[in-house]
Amino acid sequence: MNNALEPGARARATFRGRFGADPQWMARAPGRVNLIGEHTDYNAGFVLPIAIDRDCIAAAGPAPGPLSIFISADTGDTWEVDLGRWAEPEDFDAAFAPGRIHRGSWASYIYGVLRLLHARLATDSLMRPVNLVIASSVPLGGGLSSSASLEVAACLVGEQMLGMNLPGPARAALCREAEHRYAGVPCGIMDQLISVLGRENHALLIDCRDESARAIPMPPASEAVVVVMNSGVRHALAGGEYAARKAACERAAAGLGIATLREATRELLERRVHSIGEEEFRCARHIITENTRTLAAAEALARGNLAAMGRLMNESHASLRHDYRVSCPELDCLVETAQQQPGVFGARMTGAGFGGCAIALVRPEDAHAAVAATAAAYAARHGRELSAFPTSAQPGAARL
Ligand code: GLA
Repeated sequence: MNNALEPGARARATFRGRFGADPQWMARAPGRVNLIGEHTDYNAGFVLPIAIDRDCIAAAGPAPGPLSIFISADTGDTWEVDLGRWAEPEDFDAAFAPGRIHRGSWASYIYGVLRLLHARLATDSLMRPVNLVIASSVPLGGGLSSSASLEVAACLVGEQMLGMNLPGPARAALCREAEHRYAGVPCGIMDQLISVLGRENHALLIDCRDESARAIPMPPASEAVVVVMNSGVRHALAGGEYAARKAACERAAAGLGIATLREATRELLERRVHSIGEEEFRCARHIITENTRTLAAAEALARGNLAAMGRLMNESHASLRHDYRVSCPELDCLVETAQQQPGVFGARMTGAGFGGCAIALVRPEDAHAAVAATAAAYAARHGRELSAFPTSAQPGAARL
């Protein structure tokens, strides 16, 4: 694999090498960093993500048939797929040969997206076989939405193949449904929405109750930069714990007598404290305070008050660590060390947690030293090498 090429060139070169022609349809979809508003999306709350300068590329063309071929240009991993025989999520074996597709494999995301797109056509005709190559610069499983970027890129080429053009929110919803049903991950809507709707130099304040989005200008690069710090760890319990938090939130809402924790307030929580358990209480408190922080953060960003923004990021991390309990020692080390560095406005974990990435908002002239100090502490305490990069708010997914 030639991973030195940027993903667009990599996807194109792999496609040409394997199929002897240029791809007919290509699309890119970005990963994301969430500035604040964590685990609020599936509670109908507020999130404040940016799309970043790391993309998944999908390149596709008609296959001579009868099988479709999915290839990862990054790993060489190849699947032969019979798109003429759609399998339900529980029954992938029938559709995939050789080997078995399993829920959660990258091919299952593409398969699910194409399946749901084709179903929208309400036609009896079979889907034509397709050759599809993906290449990505979003670190896999690093909490930067590598999955959503894969789904959205696959969706865009799928739409081109089928002559469709979905509105952005419908595209995001279809991708999330594929992730739920075909990959078995009960995620919220944030990652898909920001990958679809991202706006250059802006964060999006998304209200996940009605999916409305307000663009909030990011600070100019001369004032602050977002640095992504990848812990390089992914704890095995991540998937199960995500579902467990979601279930605890649902129990908390039921105990408080409301439909979702979006409607919860501190007063209600205090009044009904005896109607829910300790875990439900902590989860509810995180969601209530995180929604308040996210709205305040959007205002702080809009006013250019970076000190206030940073404080809210720090408080968000503390709440995720102590109340929601989705951080881990590696992320805490990165965040605590970064927070102590000169020029750092604030730092927190980003994404689902249990590993993955932390982010810091830093003055550009201090970014290098802040990362170096954090990397040194990380190596000393955890014996691991930190990989870090600055990023900025980018436009959402597009056909190429
Ligand atoms: C993952 C999910 C999102 C969201 C975050 C936590 O990234 O895919 O929907 O719940 O975790 O904020």
